[in-house]
Amino acid sequence: MRSGDVLREEEMSPEYRRMVVQMMESQAYRELAAAHMFGYGLRFVPDKWMKFMVWHIQEETEHYQAVSKMYRDFTKEEVEPRVRERLADKPVPFAESWFELAMAQFLYDRGGFWQLKEYEECSFVPYRGVIQKIVKEEAGHQDLGEKIVVELCRSGDHEDVKQALFQKWLRIGLLSFGRPGTPGNRFAIEHGLKKRDSGECMKDFIEDIRPSVRDAGLRFPRPASLKMELPDDIDWS
Ligand SMILES: [Fe+2]
Ligand SMILES: [Fe+2]
Repeated sequence: MRSGDVLREEEMSPEYRRMVVQMMESQAYRELAAAHMFGYGLRFVPDKWMKFMVWHIQEETEHYQAVSKMYRDFTKEEVEPRVRERLADKPVPFAESWFELAMAQFLYDRGGFWQLKEYEECSFVPYRGVIQKIVKEEAGHQDLGEKIVVELCRSGDHEDVKQALFQKWLRIGLLSFGRPGTPGNRFAIEHGLKKRDSGECMKDFIEDIRPSVRDAGLRFPRPASLKMELPDDIDWS
Protein backbone atom coordinates (compact mmCIF):
# COMPACT_ATOMS: atom_id res chain seq x y z
CA MET A 1 0.00 0.00 0.00
CA ARG A 2 1.08 3.56 -0.68
CA SER A 3 -0.18 6.81 0.73
CA GLY A 4 -3.29 7.95 -1.08
CA ASP A 5 -4.28 4.38 -1.90
CA VAL A 6 -7.96 3.58 -1.79
CA LEU A 7 -9.21 0.06 -1.29
CA ARG A 8 -12.86 0.21 -0.32
CA GLU A 9 -15.92 2.16 -1.14
CA GLU A 10 -16.17 3.61 2.40
CA GLU A 11 -12.93 5.49 1.79
CA MET A 12 -14.27 7.27 -1.30
CA SER A 13 -15.95 10.59 -1.84
CA PRO A 14 -19.00 10.38 -4.12
CA GLU A 15 -17.01 12.10 -6.92
CA TYR A 16 -14.15 9.65 -6.58
CA ARG A 17 -16.53 6.72 -6.63
CA ARG A 18 -18.29 8.06 -9.71
CA MET A 19 -14.97 8.51 -11.48
CA VAL A 20 -13.85 4.98 -10.64
CA VAL A 21 -17.10 3.50 -11.93
CA GLN A 22 -16.82 5.56 -15.10
CA MET A 23 -13.23 4.42 -15.63
CA MET A 24 -14.23 0.79 -15.32
CA GLU A 25 -17.13 1.24 -17.72
CA SER A 26 -14.94 2.94 -20.31
CA GLN A 27 -12.27 0.29 -20.00
CA ALA A 28 -14.81 -2.51 -20.32
CA TYR A 29 -16.18 -0.79 -23.43
CA ARG A 30 -12.72 -0.44 -24.99
CA GLU A 31 -11.74 -4.05 -24.36
CA LEU A 32 -14.99 -5.47 -25.69
CA ALA A 33 -14.94 -3.09 -28.65
CA ALA A 34 -11.44 -4.37 -29.47
CA ALA A 35 -12.55 -8.00 -29.19
CA HIS A 36 -15.51 -7.31 -31.49
CA MET A 37 -13.46 -5.41 -34.01
CA PHE A 38 -10.72 -8.02 -34.28
CA GLY A 39 -13.30 -10.81 -34.14
CA TYR A 40 -15.17 -9.28 -37.07
CA GLY A 41 -11.87 -8.83 -38.88
CA LEU A 42 -10.94 -12.51 -38.65
CA ARG A 43 -12.53 -13.03 -42.09
CA PHE A 44 -9.76 -10.93 -43.65
CA VAL A 45 -6.81 -12.54 -41.91
CA PRO A 46 -4.40 -14.57 -44.05
CA ASP A 47 -3.67 -18.07 -42.75
CA LYS A 48 -0.20 -17.00 -41.79
CA TRP A 49 -1.55 -14.60 -39.17
CA MET A 50 -4.64 -16.55 -38.11
CA LYS A 51 -3.18 -17.89 -34.89
CA PHE A 52 -1.91 -14.50 -33.90
CA MET A 53 -5.27 -12.84 -34.46
CA VAL A 54 -7.21 -15.52 -32.59
CA TRP A 55 -4.83 -15.15 -29.68
CA HIS A 56 -5.25 -11.41 -29.79
CA ILE A 57 -9.06 -11.68 -29.76
CA GLN A 58 -8.82 -14.04 -26.83
CA GLU A 59 -6.65 -11.59 -24.91
CA GLU A 60 -9.01 -8.68 -25.51
CA THR A 61 -11.90 -10.85 -24.35
CA GLU A 62 -10.04 -11.79 -21.18
CA HIS A 63 -9.30 -8.12 -20.50
CA TYR A 64 -12.99 -7.38 -20.79
CA GLN A 65 -13.77 -10.20 -18.40
CA ALA A 66 -11.19 -9.01 -15.88
CA VAL A 67 -12.69 -5.51 -15.89
CA SER A 68 -16.22 -6.83 -15.72
CA LYS A 69 -15.36 -8.97 -12.69
CA MET A 70 -13.81 -5.99 -10.96
CA TYR A 71 -16.94 -3.97 -11.75
CA ARG A 72 -19.18 -6.69 -10.32
CA ASP A 73 -17.10 -7.00 -7.15
CA PHE A 74 -17.21 -3.28 -6.60
CA THR A 75 -20.68 -2.19 -7.69
CA LYS A 76 -22.54 -5.51 -7.19
CA GLU A 77 -23.92 -4.90 -10.67
CA GLU A 78 -23.13 -6.17 -14.15
CA VAL A 79 -21.21 -3.97 -16.54
CA GLU A 80 -22.64 -5.78 -19.56
CA PRO A 81 -25.82 -3.68 -20.03
CA ARG A 82 -23.74 -0.48 -19.71
CA VAL A 83 -21.26 -1.66 -22.27
CA ARG A 84 -23.99 -2.82 -24.65
CA GLU A 85 -25.63 0.58 -24.40
CA ARG A 86 -22.36 2.29 -25.19
CA LEU A 87 -21.60 -0.02 -28.08
CA ALA A 88 -25.03 0.74 -29.53
CA ASP A 89 -24.44 4.43 -29.02
CA LYS A 90 -20.82 4.56 -30.21
CA PRO A 91 -20.48 1.53 -32.51
CA VAL A 92 -17.02 0.09 -32.96
CA PRO A 93 -15.65 0.96 -36.36
CA PHE A 94 -14.97 -2.24 -38.27
CA ALA A 95 -12.04 -2.78 -40.59
CA GLU A 96 -13.05 -4.01 -44.06
CA SER A 97 -9.80 -5.48 -45.39
CA TRP A 98 -6.66 -7.14 -44.10
CA PHE A 99 -4.74 -3.95 -44.68
CA GLU A 100 -7.25 -1.92 -42.71
CA LEU A 101 -7.33 -4.49 -39.92
CA ALA A 102 -3.55 -4.26 -39.65
CA MET A 103 -3.86 -0.46 -39.44
CA ALA A 104 -6.47 -0.82 -36.69
CA GLN A 105 -4.34 -3.35 -34.88
CA PHE A 106 -1.45 -0.92 -34.97
CA LEU A 107 -3.17 2.38 -34.13
CA TYR A 108 -6.34 1.59 -32.20
CA ASP A 109 -4.65 -0.99 -30.08
CA ARG A 110 -1.57 1.17 -29.51
CA GLY A 111 -3.68 4.15 -28.50
CA GLY A 112 -5.40 1.97 -25.94
CA PHE A 113 -2.04 0.84 -24.61
CA TRP A 114 -0.77 4.37 -23.97
CA GLN A 115 -4.08 5.30 -22.47
CA LEU A 116 -3.86 2.40 -20.02
CA LYS A 117 -0.33 3.22 -19.00
CA GLU A 118 -1.62 6.37 -17.34
CA TYR A 119 -3.52 4.19 -14.85
CA GLU A 120 -0.64 1.89 -13.87
CA GLU A 121 -0.16 3.75 -10.59
CA CYS A 122 -3.87 4.31 -9.99
CA SER A 123 -4.79 5.11 -6.37
CA PHE A 124 -7.76 2.72 -6.55
CA VAL A 125 -5.88 -0.47 -5.78
CA PRO A 126 -8.09 -3.08 -7.51
CA TYR A 127 -8.06 -1.07 -10.75
CA ARG A 128 -4.29 -0.72 -10.56
CA GLY A 129 -3.88 -4.51 -10.31
CA VAL A 130 -6.05 -5.24 -13.32
CA ILE A 131 -4.45 -2.49 -15.41
CA GLN A 132 -0.93 -3.71 -14.69
CA LYS A 133 -1.86 -7.16 -15.90
CA ILE A 134 -3.53 -5.81 -19.06
CA VAL A 135 -0.62 -3.47 -19.86
CA LYS A 136 1.79 -6.39 -19.69
CA GLU A 137 -0.30 -8.43 -22.13
CA GLU A 138 -0.93 -5.51 -24.45
CA ALA A 139 2.81 -5.00 -24.75
CA GLY A 140 3.03 -8.60 -25.98
CA HIS A 141 0.69 -8.24 -28.95
CA GLN A 142 1.61 -4.74 -30.08
CA ASP A 143 4.84 -5.11 -32.01
CA LEU A 144 3.49 -7.50 -34.56
CA GLY A 145 0.69 -5.16 -35.68
CA GLU A 146 3.28 -2.50 -36.28
CA LYS A 147 5.51 -4.83 -38.31
CA ILE A 148 2.59 -6.00 -40.45
CA VAL A 149 1.57 -2.40 -41.27
CA VAL A 150 5.09 -1.40 -42.27
CA GLU A 151 5.48 -4.52 -44.40
CA LEU A 152 2.13 -4.06 -46.17
CA CYS A 153 2.76 -0.36 -46.74
CA ARG A 154 6.17 -1.04 -48.22
CA SER A 155 4.80 -3.69 -50.57
CA GLY A 156 3.42 -0.89 -52.73
CA ASP A 157 0.08 -2.70 -53.04
CA HIS A 158 -1.90 -0.26 -50.91
CA GLU A 159 -0.70 3.11 -52.17
CA ASP A 160 -4.20 4.27 -53.07
CA VAL A 161 -5.67 3.68 -49.60
CA LYS A 162 -2.83 3.74 -47.14
CA GLN A 163 -2.79 7.43 -46.23
CA ALA A 164 -6.57 7.72 -45.84
CA LEU A 165 -6.79 4.60 -43.67
CA PHE A 166 -3.86 5.78 -41.63
CA GLN A 167 -5.64 9.03 -40.96
CA LYS A 168 -8.91 7.28 -40.10
CA TRP A 169 -7.34 4.96 -37.52
CA LEU A 170 -4.95 7.56 -36.17
CA ARG A 171 -8.00 9.63 -35.27
CA ILE A 172 -9.74 6.66 -33.65
CA GLY A 173 -6.56 5.84 -31.73
CA LEU A 174 -6.27 9.43 -30.51
CA LEU A 175 -9.93 9.55 -29.49
CA SER A 176 -9.36 6.74 -27.00
CA PHE A 177 -7.46 9.18 -24.78
CA GLY A 178 -10.47 11.34 -24.16
CA ARG A 179 -10.51 15.12 -24.49
CA PRO A 180 -7.47 16.92 -23.12
CA GLY A 181 -7.68 19.51 -20.35
CA THR A 182 -11.12 18.60 -18.98
CA PRO A 183 -12.17 18.98 -15.30
CA GLY A 184 -12.46 15.17 -15.20
CA ASN A 185 -8.80 14.90 -16.19
CA ARG A 186 -7.83 17.33 -13.44
CA PHE A 187 -9.87 15.51 -10.80
CA ALA A 188 -8.40 12.15 -11.76
CA ILE A 189 -4.84 13.51 -11.63
CA GLU A 190 -5.37 15.31 -8.30
CA HIS A 191 -6.69 12.12 -6.73
CA GLY A 192 -3.96 9.91 -8.09
CA LEU A 193 -6.30 7.98 -10.35
CA LYS A 194 -4.19 8.71 -13.42
CA LYS A 195 -0.79 10.23 -14.00
CA ARG A 196 -1.20 12.99 -16.56
CA ASP A 197 -3.60 14.85 -18.80
CA SER A 198 -4.87 13.10 -21.94
CA GLY A 199 -2.88 15.58 -24.06
CA GLU A 200 0.38 14.28 -22.61
CA CYS A 201 -0.52 10.67 -23.45
CA MET A 202 -1.36 11.72 -27.00
CA LYS A 203 2.18 13.05 -27.32
CA ASP A 204 3.70 9.77 -26.11
CA PHE A 205 1.57 7.88 -28.57
CA ILE A 206 2.67 10.06 -31.49
CA GLU A 207 6.33 9.76 -30.44
CA ASP A 208 5.96 6.02 -30.20
CA ILE A 209 4.51 5.51 -33.67
CA ARG A 210 6.67 8.10 -35.46
CA PRO A 211 9.46 5.71 -36.60
CA SER A 212 6.99 3.22 -38.08
CA VAL A 213 4.97 5.98 -39.72
CA ARG A 214 8.17 7.05 -41.45
CA ASP A 215 9.21 3.49 -42.36
CA ALA A 216 5.75 2.86 -43.82
CA GLY A 217 6.01 5.95 -46.02
CA LEU A 218 3.06 7.60 -44.29
CA ARG A 219 2.70 11.24 -43.21
CA PHE A 220 0.98 12.70 -40.19
CA PRO A 221 -2.07 14.62 -41.40
CA ARG A 222 -2.66 18.29 -40.66
CA PRO A 223 -4.03 18.30 -37.10
CA ALA A 224 -7.06 20.38 -38.16
CA SER A 225 -8.08 17.65 -40.60
CA LEU A 226 -8.49 15.21 -37.69
CA LYS A 227 -11.41 17.31 -36.46
CA MET A 228 -10.89 16.68 -32.77
CA GLU A 229 -9.52 18.47 -29.74
CA LEU A 230 -5.75 18.11 -29.59
CA PRO A 231 -3.04 19.83 -27.57
CA ASP A 232 -1.28 22.49 -29.73
CA ASP A 233 2.21 21.31 -28.88
CA ILE A 234 2.17 17.82 -30.41
CA ASP A 235 5.20 17.32 -32.65
CA TRP A 236 3.70 16.22 -35.97
CA SER A 237 6.99 16.14 -37.87
FE1 LIG B 1 -6.93 -5.09 -24.35
FE1 LIG C 1 -4.86 -4.83 -27.28
